[in-house]
Amino acid sequence: MKVDVLLGLQWGDEGKGKIVDVLTPKYDIIGRFQGGPNAGHTLEFNGIKHVLHTIPSGIFHPKAVNIIGNGVVIDPVVFKKEIDALIKLGVDVKAKLLISKRAHLILPTHRLLDAASEASKGKEKIGSTLKGIGPTYMDKTGRNGLRVGDIDNPNFKEKYLALVEKHKQLLAFHQYDYKLEELEPAWFEGIEVLKGLVRVESEHYINDALKNNQAILAEGAQGSLLDIDFGSYPFVTSSNTICAGACTGLGIAPNKIGNVIGIFKAYCTRVGSGPFPTELEDATGEQIRKTGNEFGSTTGRPRRTGWLDLPALKYAVMINGVTELMMMKADILSGFETIKVCTHYSYEGKQIDYLPYDYSPELLSPVYVELKGWNKDLTGLHNPEEMPEALNDYINFIEQATGVPISIVSVGPNRTQTLIRNKELV
Ligand code: GDP
Ligand code: IMO
Ligand code: MG
Repeated sequence: MKVDVLLGLQWGDEGKGKIVDVLTPKYDIIGRFQGGPNAGHTLEFNGIKHVLHTIPSGIFHPKAVNIIGNGVVIDPVVFKKEIDALIKLGVDVKAKLLISKRAHLILPTHRLLDAASEASKGKEKIGSTLKGIGPTYMDKTGRNGLRVGDIDNPNFKEKYLALVEKHKQLLAFHQYDYKLEELEPAWFEGIEVLKGLVRVESEHYINDALKNNQAILAEGAQGSLLDIDFGSYPFVTSSNTICAGACTGLGIAPNKIGNVIGIFKAYCTRVGSGPFPTELEDATGEQIRKTGNEFGSTTGRPRRTGWLDLPALKYAVMINGVTELMMMKADILSGFETIKVCTHYSYEGKQIDYLPYDYSPELLSPVYVELKGWNKDLTGLHNPEEMPEALNDYINFIEQATGVPISIVSVGPNRTQTLIRNKELV
C-alpha cells in the first residue's frame, strides 16, 4: 500500500477538512503532517459544524485511527480545548488518537515571541495567526525545542525553564510586556491532558501499517503558496506544506507516496499579508467574501478574495506532483454573468504563464480570460450530471490548463454537498 496525500494548493482554507472527512471511510489511518493551531479545518455534518486545529479531520469516523505526526507543532492549551470539545460530542479520543513523541511543543513564550516579532515588523508584518508557529519551528531547527516525548522525562520542568529563560531574553530585546504567570497554568494543564493520551513512535506505526496493507491518508495544513520554501517568502508559514512535507512530517519514504490530492477553491482567498495577483479589492471581491463567508476559521479575520489564478495553481500542481484535483466552493460563483480566470501574467513587459520568483504587484499583473457564468443554485445538487453547462466548461478549462482531472466538485460545506465526478478516483 501507499500513502495518499491531501493538501491545499492555494493560500490555505481551501476546504481540506471537509474533504478529509468525506474520504475517511476509505482509509484506516489519517495523519496530519505539519503546521499546528494556525490551521482551522471545518467539518459539517448532521447539523454539527466543527473546527479542528491540531487533530486530524478523520476523528469523527468510528473506525479510522488519527495520528498527529512528528512534523506538527502542538500547543497544549489549544489541544486541551479541542479534546474537551470532542469528548463533549462523544468522540472516544483516547482510542482513536495517537500523538508522535517527536512532535514539538508550542510554549506560551513562543506565542509571546510571535506577537513581539509581528509588532516589531510594523507594516511589514507577516499577518501571522499569533499561535507561536514561527518561533516554535525556529527552536526546532535551532535544536532548542521541547518535544512531546520530553513530557515524561523527570527533567522536563528544568528543560522548560531553560527554554523560557532564553525566550525571556528575546522578549526583553523586543521590549515586549507580558504576564507569563497568567499563561502557564493552562499550559501545564494541557501537558497533563497529553500525558493521558497515547504517544507513539509514529514513523514505526505508519510503516508497520503500510506493511499490513492499511490505507493511509496524510492531511496537510495551510497551502502550497504558504510553503516555507516555495511560498511568497517571507509572507509564508514556517513549515513545508507541500507533498514532501508528508514524507518528513510522518516518516514516509518518497516511494511510498500514492495519490496526491490537491484541493483548491473555484476562486482564491488569502488571509494575512503578501502578494496576491488576482486580488479583487472591489464590490466583486466583497460579494465573494460575503457569499463565501470568507472569514478565518482560526482568527475570524476577513479573507482577501480574488479570481482563480491558473499559473499559481499550475505551480502548486508541479511542486506537489498532484494526481487528482478537487474543486471547492463552486456554489459561491453562482450568479455571476461572467467569471474571470487568470491564465497569464504581464511581468516586466512580457507575458508569462508561470509563477515567477517575485510576484509583487509592482512587477506583475494578471491577464484574464472571461468565461460564461451560471445562474443555477448548486447547493442542492447530488450528482455531477445536474451541473450547468457553464460549470462543466469552467471545470474542463481548468483540467486542460493543469493536465489533472477534477474528481470532486464541492457545492456546500456539508459532507453531503459533494459531487463525485470520477468514482474510480475517490
Ligand atoms: P481548510 O482549512 O482547508 O480545512 O478550510 P476552512 O475550514 O478553513 O475553510 C473552508 C470553509 O468553507 C469552511 O467554512 C467550510 O465549511 C466551507 N466549505 C467547504 N467546502 C465548501 C463548499 O463547497 N461550499 C461552501 N459554500 N462552503 C464550503
Ligand atoms: P489552514 O490549514 C490560511 C497564514 C497566516 C499568515 C501566514 C503565517 O486552515 O488552511 P503563521 O501563523 O503560520 O505563522 O502565519 O500563514 N496561515 C493560514 N492561512 N489557512 C491556514 O491554515 C493558515 N495557517 C497560516 O494568515 O499569513
Ligand atoms: Mg482553514
